[in-house]
Amino acid sequence: MELRDRVAVVTGGARGIGAALCRRFAEEGAAAIIIADLDRAAAEELAGQLGAPATARECDVRSEASIVELVRATRERHGRIDLFCSNAGITVSGTEETPDDDWQRLWDVNVMSHVYAARAVLPSMLERGEGHLLQTSSAAGLLTEIGSAAYSVTKHGAVAFAEWLSVRYRRRGIRVSCLCPAGVATEFLKEDDAIHQFLATSALTPEDVAEAVIQGLADERFLILPHHQVAEFFAFKGEDYDRWLHNFSRIAQKLDRIANRREATD
Ligand SMILES: NC(=O)c1ccc[n+]([C@@H]2O[C@H](COP(=O)([O-])OP(=O)(O)OC[C@H]3O[C@@H](n4cnc5c(N)ncnc54)[C@H](O)[C@@H]3O)[C@@H](O)[C@H]2O)c1
Repeated sequence: MELRDRVAVVTGGARGIGAALCRRFAEEGAAAIIIADLDRAAAEELAGQLGAPATARECDVRSEASIVELVRATRERHGRIDLFCSNAGITVSGTEETPDDDWQRLWDVNVMSHVYAARAVLPSMLERGEGHLLQTSSAAGLLTEIGSAAYSVTKHGAVAFAEWLSVRYRRRGIRVSCLCPAGVATEFLKEDDAIHQFLATSALTPEDVAEAVIQGLADERFLILPHHQVAEFFAFKGEDYDRWLHNFSRIAQKLDRIANRREATD
């Protein structure tokens, strides 16, 4: 899909990767860009910077009603949605001991939001026989995020749902792309998290990610991997799962040692 004259919705669009997507879609000549975010003020600020094609909308992707209203209002104003970017996502560091409330929060934002978006937007796309869904997962959805069990599991869920949608609707004109970056320099990467600091050393900018998305959408590619290392690790995982597990557990051990040393000196 080329963005010129398209109507695009971006959840989590006020900051980070979502904001870079909105900026880039504006440069590409999109007809309308709906910046949907929990943070209305930040969405309005970005819409103000982007001018005419951009509109801000408050939306909580944890709520199906909020996504239904986002889709309804966009279709009423612009007639259609060509591209729906389900991009909002959150994390929490922790192991299997992560409290149930946090597991549920990540499940709702990182998985169910994609389900709600598909339910809301697919009927009109299927009726027109075209439409593109961009689901932001993560490298953690193909590999793992050593510091967060809940993030790894829910991002795997996001990849699984994107795959399922692609298999199910490809022949009816629907394209699905799944964005799986590793570290990206946004507020998402926390300075007090050893794994996030490690990811920050090879982080791309949100603009790099937006460039990869533009290319991936133009090529109608399913997996969009801005970091070439992720493609290599994913291929290696497919070739030799046990060696991949062995290598990642060594990295986990090293990062634990760094975190323990830091705690001891604090
Ligand atoms: N930054 C990274 O290193 C990285 C790496 C891989 C994947 N990702 C994924 O990319 C996506 C965007 O991450 P980012 O780095 O831009 O994060 P960010 O924290 O910079 O921005 C996220 C945006 O989502 C909004 N948001 C959060 N919860 C929301 C909700 N319930 N409803 C609507 N909006 C909500 C926030 O207000 C914020 O504007 C996420 O899905 C994240 O998991 C990020």
